[in-house]
Amino acid sequence: MEQQGFTLWFTGLSCSGKTTISQIVANELRARGLKVEVLDGDVVRTNLSKGLGFSKEDRDMNILRVGFVSKLLTRNGVATIVAAISPYRLIRDQVRQDIGNFVEVFVKCPIEVCIDRDVKGLYKKALAGEIKNYTGIDDPYEEPTAPEVVVETNVETPQQSAAIVVKALEHLHYIAPQDRSVTSEVYSVEEEAAVKKRLEDLGYI
Ligand code: ADX
Repeated sequence: MEQQGFTLWFTGLSCSGKTTISQIVANELRARGLKVEVLDGDVVRTNLSKGLGFSKEDRDMNILRVGFVSKLLTRNGVATIVAAISPYRLIRDQVRQDIGNFVEVFVKCPIEVCIDRDVKGLYKKALAGEIKNYTGIDDPYEEPTAPEVVVETNVETPQQSAAIVVKALEHLHYIAPQDRSVTSEVYSVEEEAAVKKRLEDLGYI
């Protein structure tokens, strides 16, 4: 059967875990023999969106460009994975409408935990006023109202979150179900239970 294209869109605060989870999911899908492309905000901003800043206009332009490329890939049967803060609901919904096969993953994490992680030290600078318009500090993040998947990275491991996303793709019939996945091999009983509970909460099982 030919692979069905879809766009898996990770949205969430900086340091919420979008890149980490998207990479695990990408590897899992590749291991299952799917064609996968990843469009990561930090990478996209060094080429496709080079020169754009972080005003609302520039962020929206960034998301529209990423959405445009995702649409082309999706209609050609590629499993397209996007990881971008994408803070504005309206533009995310516009991209959703435009692409069609769209799975929104809200990477949920309290801002305090994101600040604690501060992988690139940018929250520190934003809190010191050295960077303006930082998402979650002095710029808005609009949570999705009806995402297909919610992962909570302050209580789940990256492997667990990734497994929840992969299972959701199976339940939505974008990918074929598989009993033993790369991610599930590293599970403890407690982790399995947590994944199952999350899928139940989402109404997938
Ligand atoms: S988006 O808002 O346009 O979707 P995107 O995901 O591409 O953002 O880029 C976010 C990355 O840019 C962050 O991971 C961070 O490293 C960096 N960055 C620099 N300035 C800002 C800012 N003002 N707000 C958020 N992220 C910023």
